[in-house]
Amino acid sequence: MTPWLTRPVVRALVLGLALAGAVAPGAPTAGPAPRPVALEARPAGPRPAPQDDGADGAGAGAGAGRAAAPPPMGWASWNSFASSIDLATVKAQVDAFVAAGLPEAGYRYVNLDDGWWQGARDADGEMTVDPVRWPGGMAAVADYIHGKGLKAGIYTDAGRNGCGYYYPTTRPAAAGTGMEGHELQDALRFQRWGFDFLKVDWCGGDAEHLDPETSYRTVAAAIAGATATTGHPMLLSVCEWGVGRPWNWAAGTAAMWRTGYDIIHWGERPSPGAALASFDRSLHPAAQHTGFVNDPDMLTAGMDGLTDAQNRTQLSLWAIAGAPLLAGNDLTRMTPTTRATLTNPEMIAIDQDPRGLQGVKAAEDTAGLQVYGKVLSGTGRRAVLLLNRTAAAAPVTVRWTDLGLTGAPATVREVWAAADRGTPATGWTADVPAGGSVLLTVTGTEAPAATYQAEEGTRAGGAGRTDCAPCSGGAAAGPLGPGTGLTLTGVGTATAGIALADIAYVNGDPVARTATLRVNGQTPTVVSFPPTGSWSTPGTVSVLLSLAKGGDNTITLAAPDAPGPAPDAVLLRPLPGTAGTALVGAGSARCAELPGNAVADDTRAVPADCTGGQNQTFTATPRGELVVYGNRCLAALGDGRADGTPVVVRDCTGAPGRTWAPHPDGTIRNGLSGLCLNDPGRGADEGTPLDLRSCDGTPGRTWELR
Ligand code: GLA
Repeated sequence: MTPWLTRPVVRALVLGLALAGAVAPGAPTAGPAPRPVALEARPAGPRPAPQDDGADGAGAGAGAGRAAAPPPMGWASWNSFASSIDLATVKAQVDAFVAAGLPEAGYRYVNLDDGWWQGARDADGEMTVDPVRWPGGMAAVADYIHGKGLKAGIYTDAGRNGCGYYYPTTRPAAAGTGMEGHELQDALRFQRWGFDFLKVDWCGGDAEHLDPETSYRTVAAAIAGATATTGHPMLLSVCEWGVGRPWNWAAGTAAMWRTGYDIIHWGERPSPGAALASFDRSLHPAAQHTGFVNDPDMLTAGMDGLTDAQNRTQLSLWAIAGAPLLAGNDLTRMTPTTRATLTNPEMIAIDQDPRGLQGVKAAEDTAGLQVYGKVLSGTGRRAVLLLNRTAAAAPVTVRWTDLGLTGAPATVREVWAAADRGTPATGWTADVPAGGSVLLTVTGTEAPAATYQAEEGTRAGGAGRTDCAPCSGGAAAGPLGPGTGLTLTGVGTATAGIALADIAYVNGDPVARTATLRVNGQTPTVVSFPPTGSWSTPGTVSVLLSLAKGGDNTITLAAPDAPGPAPDAVLLRPLPGTAGTALVGAGSARCAELPGNAVADDTRAVPADCTGGQNQTFTATPRGELVVYGNRCLAALGDGRADGTPVVVRDCTGAPGRTWAPHPDGTIRNGLSGLCLNDPGRGADEGTPLDLRSCDGTPGRTWELR
């Protein structure tokens, strides 16, 4: 039996929320399959209790009766202690953690990082530890952490040797500190010791040239296998620094994944610039949903070298990104101001918002004066970060319409000042200090949205649809069967960019179920659907989708290889501040793309089938930049001026080689060389990267901005 969501359930949801007459901009006016219905967003479910952190939740399978897991919060040993950790050190941190009131603020994890183990295994292949440093063994430290009502984290590597072998810090290098070849054995050991969280690093994997996706799937399977034996769940934290683009595959496998290199190396002083760079690399909003999050790295706030204002900005960045909040400072030396920064309840509520989304860049009218918006749970609620990356104080303005709200008056609350700022119309301007930020919550009026609901005949997996016929009376349904899914075609949007999607579904199972979400030909992502209580009780999960301009988008939700949830309707609300354009080759109809959603420096752009993905959506700024992924820019390699110069992605510096001018003849000319953006293969060959060539009218050098 593979029945679908009962039609009356979703109809009740849609009708109960419908706004007569309004249709979203860009919604198709007619079309056989989807039925756009304008409606207000449903309020999301109640905020999970802080302790409902989903260690057994979405990240590694299922958690009975639980909401989607919010980003983990806690403390980790690496930034302040490197490899110099032992029971006494950890106990002192745990005691300070509790004394500072971090648990009451929602912080739960105490995570041991590198250095706890020097690599020796016994005759059975079991890890052994130094009994002087760890009296009572590792179970004793987990017990101590648990004794305070907290959760315990431990650390290893996906390769044979860990980072402490390749890059020793405060202890001698030791071989054998990774779990490769011992995955299940080590996962069992960690769980039997009592650990609830496992960070798996990549120094060994990198040195051995392993494939990150394969290695981490092996680790995740080992964790699940061990949990099946021990009954002890353990959350997986992937730490491969973004090299294998985990935003393409880690959702559904790990609770969190690092998106870049370390925010600080041992011996360095923390810097605001490093925090900004980590934040920038973490912006993969389509991958972040329902308990799966991009990880910009552990916090450096409260460490020597940062001011209180810089600490607040770092927490603001992490909160708007919905990032894990893992403090890295020495808690025994924490100042009252740092404590107040880490525990600010309004900042934490933004970070932990149960809608579970990442913030997106909503405006940058002037270089370095940026606006980020995060859709919060509830109706008309947004978090906003006004960020001044320049060296001079400046006013920064957020426009409500950029956030998917109408221009009607919205109430403004300034988070760090804990002050209400009235109910201005159209937007709000704050003076933001040089290098500083202002964090707001805003409650306004949702702009019109469209809901798409599949007609019976458009669903893939006919068996599932047929089986659903008995469910139409609203009786108990069951899970989506393997290979079946929901397909919505003709999904429209006025401009290319990111849209909020609220997916109505039911999941009467006691555990979260996953389904694979795909938009057009984009890389799919795995979304977790928490239990809704019964097969007749609808729920909503939210995701951010990247859509192509026009009415031709196709959204599919499919159960992978296990019973899945029953999705039925999707409400779409564009976030106009993210609007961009596709660069479409005039002859080829192929789009300029960063292949594989890569954002690493000097990744070459290629022509590819147009998908509307973030890797094909470029926001043109008044400064001539073509911005992709929030803060990356299309650029001439090395500011090259020669024919054949590769076209790549780099940071947005405003340098002439990173600017472009569309010309009336259809060419796009680089600001440094005046050379034209060129598709050498004229779209015939997806593998031939774009370059710069003289503007001589050769086919392959004219483009449509769509
Ligand atoms: C890598 C990780 C860091 C930290 C160190 C420990 O560099 O990215 O977060 O765990 O290893 O050696």
